Amino acid sequence: MSQPLAHICVIGAGTMGRGIAQVALASGHPVHLVDPDEAQLRVAGSDITARLSRRDPAAPALVKARLRTFTDLTQTPTDAPTVVVEAILERLDIKQAVLRRAAEHFGPTCVLATNTSSLSVTAIAAGTPDPSRVVGMHFFNPVPVMRLVEVVRGLQTADEVVDTVAELAVRWGKSVAHVRSVPGFIVNRVARAFYGESLRLVEERASTPEAIDELMRSAGGFRMGPFELMDLIGNDVNFAVTQSVWTSYHYDPRFAPSLIQSELIAAGRFGRKTGQGFYEYGESAERTRPLAAEVKAEAVTGATPVVLHGSDDQLEAVLTRSGLEFSREESDTPRIEFVSLGSVMVTRGRSAREESARRSEPVLLLDRCLDPSTATALALASADAALTDVVVALLDRAGIHAFPMADIPGLVVARVLSMIANEAWETAHHGVATPDDIDIAMLLGTNYPIGPFAWSARWSTRRVLELLDALWSSYHDPRYRASHALRAEVQTTSHDGLG
Ligand code: NAI
Repeated sequence: MSQPLAHICVIGAGTMGRGIAQVALASGHPVHLVDPDEAQLRVAGSDITARLSRRDPAAPALVKARLRTFTDLTQTPTDAPTVVVEAILERLDIKQAVLRRAAEHFGPTCVLATNTSSLSVTAIAAGTPDPSRVVGMHFFNPVPVMRLVEVVRGLQTADEVVDTVAELAVRWGKSVAHVRSVPGFIVNRVARAFYGESLRLVEERASTPEAIDELMRSAGGFRMGPFELMDLIGNDVNFAVTQSVWTSYHYDPRFAPSLIQSELIAAGRFGRKTGQGFYEYGESAERTRPLAAEVKAEAVTGATPVVLHGSDDQLEAVLTRSGLEFSREESDTPRIEFVSLGSVMVTRGRSAREESARRSEPVLLLDRCLDPSTATALALASADAALTDVVVALLDRAGIHAFPMADIPGLVVARVLSMIANEAWETAHHGVATPDDIDIAMLLGTNYPIGPFAWSARWSTRRVLELLDALWSSYHDPRYRASHALRAEVQTTSHDGLG
């Protein structure tokens, strides 16, 4: 049921609470902001007024008329339908106690939303008189800017309560992703692979944080690479979320934290806030761009005939962008052949060494990129120096910086994105959220360039599955088990088989 004029009672006037109060006020609701800390309430009030005033000169009068602050929840008016949004510290017992008090104060018809980011909504609800009135309303920071709200259904949440907060979020200009109460909900679950798999790559000494960040930006289309983002979030905070998700999923290796990150924390290198993390910060710190492979003058491309076998949009784009002349041949195995030198393939999840042995010729592997027509960096791996020199020169002609990596399977963008996609398939498989909701959540909650399902479709689910299966064959680590839903999708839709 829609409650457009509901009173909104925001409990907790910290970072999130004041953001939630701001968007509710901007949408016309009377807002009651509750926090035992008077100073916090004063700062929240002036913060909200200042931020709203940037767009609306009448904001101070509006805030004065619609916002009331209270140090005690039981002093708030109860004469109108009220939706409570709780944004206090992240502790189950304290959240339960506060919502229990709110339920007693506002009566049986009030809706109790919690902004918890890591606790079970079902568990929070279990501490209140009527768990069916409790729902998750997970906002993202900064609330006025971030467009996503995960509406989290606990085991006992009533449909009507879910509908009320979903309608409210839409009224406040947000997009809603519906999700069942599982650890990490959608965003903090699916995004674990972005950090975790990148950390694995560094752990395996495949490449450096600098190069991986560059590749995730310039080839993957992400706004920030995983390591600079972990430094921004704070390695302590990011690690705590990973650890909480990992333990909550009963130590599933897909979510396992990294020793590299725990070492940083042990050393006090939390990231930007301590001046040091994966990178150095502060005035004297110089951020050097990672070094791309040197283009050797003698590696003149075009000296050997070039043949494009089969069809692959990325190989085709690289050749077209380079301006190099090439011929075409039919094949089921897409590759660029530099006659008498070797072949270039896009990763299928095997190492270059393995692909070379299978083909009985030198093979250089290229990483996958999001958009082959605009990518400006690509990872590559090969054991063959002559072939590497020629491909580095080819990529240079195409306006692409080459980043040679250790010969580990799956390279960077293809591997990290496949792991993100796998988690998304598994999340949908378990009925936690729909593919559409997962894509919206990842686009708006984390600013990914494209949702994981959209990416699976763009690259092809068959290739994502092929890459995951190859990782599984290499490592025999259950972390790389492909989602059954992904496999079923490939079996249903793929007519060309997996070989
Ligand atoms: P914060 O530390 O900035 O603010 C918490 C506020 O709650 C403080 O003002 C404190 O005085 C108040 N408070 C503590 N006990 C209270 C009580 N019994 N009654 C009323 N107020 C009380 O915390 P922040 O960052 O705003 O987080 C709040 C909640 O939002 C947590 O559950 C957190 O996990 C969640 N969250 C935080 C995000 C973030 O990026 N900061 C993102 C999404 C969710």
